[in-house]
Parts: sequence; structure tokens; C-alpha cells
Amino acid sequence: MPQSLKVVRLATAGAHVASLLSLALVSARATATDTPAAPAAPAGATASATAAAAATPATAAAPAPAVASAAAADLPFTHGTAAAGSAKSALCSACHGPNGNSVNPEWPRLAGQSAVYVAEQLRLFRSGVRNNPVMKPLAATLSDQDIDDLAVYYEAQTPVGLEADPSYWKGGEALYLGGDRAHEVPACLACHGPLGRGNPAAGYPALRAQQSVYVVKQLNDYASGARFSSANTTADPDSVMMITIAKRLSPEQIRDVASYVQGMR
Ligand code: HEC
Ligand code: HEC
Repeated sequence: MPQSLKVVRLATAGAHVASLLSLALVSARATATDTPAAPAAPAGATASATAAAAATPATAAAPAPAVASAAAADLPFTHGTAAAGSAKSALCSACHGPNGNSVNPEWPRLAGQSAVYVAEQLRLFRSGVRNNPVMKPLAATLSDQDIDDLAVYYEAQTPVGLEADPSYWKGGEALYLGGDRAHEVPACLACHGPLGRGNPAAGYPALRAQQSVYVVKQLNDYASGARFSSANTTADPDSVMMITIAKRLSPEQIRDVASYVQGMR
């Protein structure tokens, strides 16, 4: 990732780590005031940008303007276009599905995913830091321009289909919206947003409409240490956040929250 963008992410992420992982759980107020749509609600349901803002910890203030404008020059949108990404996505569609709507539970959906996050993950696969035997050789063939085009293309797609498993999503909703105080788990909502649309400014991924089987695998990979976004897992905020959180989740919580996000829009 370009250095200046990383700086913004670190600043934002640092605030989150401080405010959330130091266990000042922010969930109670957000839960009381937000009423995210139930799983399987139609696209574009209720919550607004205002709700998202209210749910974000006060410490996650926008980065200083000087830094933000430096970063803007390095956003995927600066270099990439959806049209070029569409043309380059044919190979990807074999697994990630038409318009990024994967139908295989083990292959993640990319439709509507944050472009900043997609670009970062493709670079992590390419460098082998995110060590996946399927994606690494594929990403190795991508140029920076390809990555930016694909990232912009996938963010512009709309996730369709998939619903929550009725047996599990209620427990997952409680965890997503309220966290688990007893085990010092912050609400997922604080970073992934009330509707699971992520936090584009910080590059936090969207989780809505994601394949639950894939989500379970990722949470287990963070917990086991198999997935991280920097070799220095104790200093890199992106790694610290999800490794710390995933380790505190029970297998049942992972199953439930994965089911819930699969139904979010
Ligand atoms: C052979 C199947 C296959 C093909 C083809 C493929 N992918 Fe993947 N992709 C996967 C799998 C499997 C994963 C999940 C890896 C893991 O478990 O960490 C993945 C993960 C990803 C992720 C991370 C998603 C997330 O939510 O973190 C991105 C981004 C991605 N692929 C983009 C692409 C792009 C762009 C292409 C085309 C250049 C592509 N993939 C081609 C199978 C594939
Ligand atoms: C403090 C902010 C924060 C909180 C709270 C948080 N996450 Fe995350 N999450 C992140 C970041 C940042 C990433 C991307 C990390 C990376 O680059 O690997 C991420 C990644 C993920 C991923 C991988 C997404 C993908 O497409 O591969 C899943 C799944 C996930 N989080 C689930 C959860 C769940 C479930 C909770 C609540 C129990 C939660 N997160 C709480 C910040 C957070």
C-alpha cells in the first residue's frame, strides 16, 4: 500500500485500537440508538450515514486534512476505473462469481467490497504476506494498475442473494451490535458499520452478504495466527485488531456472527 495511505489507516486504526481494544466498549450507546435492518432485509434499508457516524467512536476522528489529501492521491480510484476492472475480471469471475457474487461458500464475495481494502489484500497476496496458495499465484500476475482497476470495479458492484441461517443469526446479531463484554470483545459494528458496509475511509472491509463459510475460516485464521497483514503482528494495527478479537470468540460466536453478516445488506 502506498505509504501516505498507510499513514491515514494507521492513524485511524490506532484510534480504534486504543478506544476499543483497551476495552472501552463502545457498543452500548450505539446499540441503543441504531436499529440496523434485520438480516435478509432488502438492499438499501434503513440506517444512514448519520447512524454510522454515531456508531463510530469519537476518537476515530477524520485524519488531519494535510494527511488526507496526501492519501487521496493514492486511493485506488485515482488510478483505476471500473470499466478497465470489468475487462480484467473475467478470470476472477470463475471463482468470485458474476460481478463478485461468489456462489461457492469458500470463495469470498467481492461485490461492494471497499476498494481500499481489496487493493490492500491483493498486494498482501502478491507479496505473500497473506499466504493463500490459491490467490498468491493469481495476484503475482497483477500490476499495480490491474489491482486498482479491479478494486474500483468490485466496489461498484452490488451484492445479491444469500440470507442468514435462521438458527444462528440472532446470537450473531447480538454480538455484532453489542459485543461481548464478559470476554472483552468490542461490537463489530464499531468498525464494520451498522449495516456491515465497512469503513471506507479507514479501509475496513465490508462484511455484508459475505459467505458465512468464508467468514468462519477468516476468523479462525486470525485466531490461529495464519492470517495477518504485516509480519509484525504485534505492531500492525490491522493485524492486532482482528487477531485480538478473533481469539476471544467461541466457536459458537464465530458461527453465529458469520451467519448474521451473510444476511446483512
Ligand atoms: C481459483 C479460484 C480463485 C480465482 C480464479 C480468484 N480467486 Fe480471489 N480468492 C479465492 C479464495 C479461495 C480466496 C480466499 C482466500 C483465503 O481463504 O484467505 C480469495 C480471496 C480473494 C480476496 C480477498 C477477499 C477478502 O474479503 O479478504 C480478493 C480481494 C480476491 N480474492 C481477488 C481476486 C481477483 C481480483 C481475482 C482475479 C485476478 C481472483 N481473486 C481470482 C479464490 C480465487
Ligand atoms: C477495531 C476495529 C474492528 C473491530 C471492532 C472488528 N473488526 Fe473485523 N476487521 C477489522 C479490520 C481492520 C480488518 C481487516 C484486517 C486485515 O487487513 O486483515 C477486519 C477484518 C475482518 C474480517 C475479514 C474480512 C474479509 O473479507 O476477509 C472478518 C470476517 C471480520 N473482520 C469480522 C469481525 C467480527 C465478527 C467482529 C466483531 C466480533 C469484528 N470483525 C470487529 C477491524 C475490526
